[in-house]
Amino acid sequence: MSAGAGRARQNEIYRAGVIGRRPAVPTDFAELERRARKASSAKAWAYVAGGAGLGRTMRNNREAFDRWAIVPRMLRGAAERDLSRELLGTRLPAPVLLAPVGAGQLVDLDADLHTARAAAATGIPYVFTNQGGTPMEQAAAAMGDSPRWFQLYWSTDEGLVDSLIRRAEAIGAGALVITLDTTVLGWRPQDLNLGSLPFAQGLGIGQYTSDPRFLELADARPASTGPRPQVTLAAIRSLLSIVRNHPGSFWANLRSPRPRASVETFLDIYSNPRLSWDHIATVRDRTRLPVVLKGILHPDDARRAFDLGVDAVVVSNHGGRQVDGAIAALDALVAVREAVGPDRTVLMDSGIRSGADVFTAIALGADAVLLGRPYLYGMAIAGQAGVEQVIANVIAELDLTMALTGVSDLAGITREMLCDRTARPA
Ligand code: FNR
Ligand code: LAC
Repeated sequence: MSAGAGRARQNEIYRAGVIGRRPAVPTDFAELERRARKASSAKAWAYVAGGAGLGRTMRNNREAFDRWAIVPRMLRGAAERDLSRELLGTRLPAPVLLAPVGAGQLVDLDADLHTARAAAATGIPYVFTNQGGTPMEQAAAAMGDSPRWFQLYWSTDEGLVDSLIRRAEAIGAGALVITLDTTVLGWRPQDLNLGSLPFAQGLGIGQYTSDPRFLELADARPASTGPRPQVTLAAIRSLLSIVRNHPGSFWANLRSPRPRASVETFLDIYSNPRLSWDHIATVRDRTRLPVVLKGILHPDDARRAFDLGVDAVVVSNHGGRQVDGAIAALDALVAVREAVGPDRTVLMDSGIRSGADVFTAIALGADAVLLGRPYLYGMAIAGQAGVEQVIANVIAELDLTMALTGVSDLAGITREMLCDRTARPA
């Protein structure tokens, strides 16, 4: 990001204000969330904003940030800031990536394309989700040469794992991100109370229905011999959704067993509950891409990952969607960074809501962070432009925070810039 991203963004907004325009996307998280909720269906909101159990992990994620206070330094003349960061061989304009977010179709049918285009417009890498609605080849084509990574859910079918990895290589992914924390879905009361699972409606399975190996499996699936499902209005709606979201013509899909078989096959094989370190040990021989493990929370797991030769880890609790009452990602970041030393590449997500949060996470050892819900909320309000505005706002605030604390590059954002509000004076 060029020096002065913060002031440029302020000027843009205040200038528009002079002629009576307000930003379409609120610049603070609380209002962003309120407006996104209004713009979303009940099912979309339950899925996107919801978390596991009582929601304690999501609260922990935020409370962990409240523990740390930034201590600005004066008179250091940080008039020009360099926010760029080298990450796995690519120089990024800012230490921010867009997290993989599955079933974004609930918010907008073109969620993956909006996100891909917004990422390309801002130069921020987009980590394609394995559970997108749009095949990765199409999303990549919408990005030109901009950086994209691919996030993999390790299927029970090893042939599918290889097929997805080959496709990720072919679209020029800069890294393969293997998500470890979702071998099964967490207990999510907001979705459960609505009986709502996007995949059962044919949403979020576009990487699968475009995959030759997956289609082989779906086609080989024996027709269900169980009791015929009751024909209700909801059942017809679900069927239409499945048929509409399957590639190809609606009328052909309506007659074909493939769309329904695809949903059933997906639910059976998308993730492997037996996933172990032995699987991860095979990945080096399966791809030349840098490998990133996402969902690390314990320092021993981080050490073991690097011992196995992975290139980076993402400290994350999946935005509090998996285990209720889990450790805050920011707290885990501190422990992981301490365990692996200063040179390993450690990313972090879960709870980043603003540029000041990015500053805090970097001070505590993150090389970069992933934005999750905030960009999806921007999209709910204003599509691709909404995603771009959220990215611009977060980076603007990071830049201004650096200006006001006297640091001119990311290396200057150190632990010494923070104080622990819970520490008792000695
Ligand atoms: C996710 N996340 C996620 N992660 C992943 O590896 N693959 C995926 O398909 C998804 N899908 C997904 C859907 C939705 C709606 C959300 C909110 C999150 C987790 C995501 O990558 C990231 O870890 C969290 O979003 C971080 O938490 P916050 O900051 O968004 O609260
Ligand atoms: C989720 C899955 C898609 O969090 O990762 O809903």
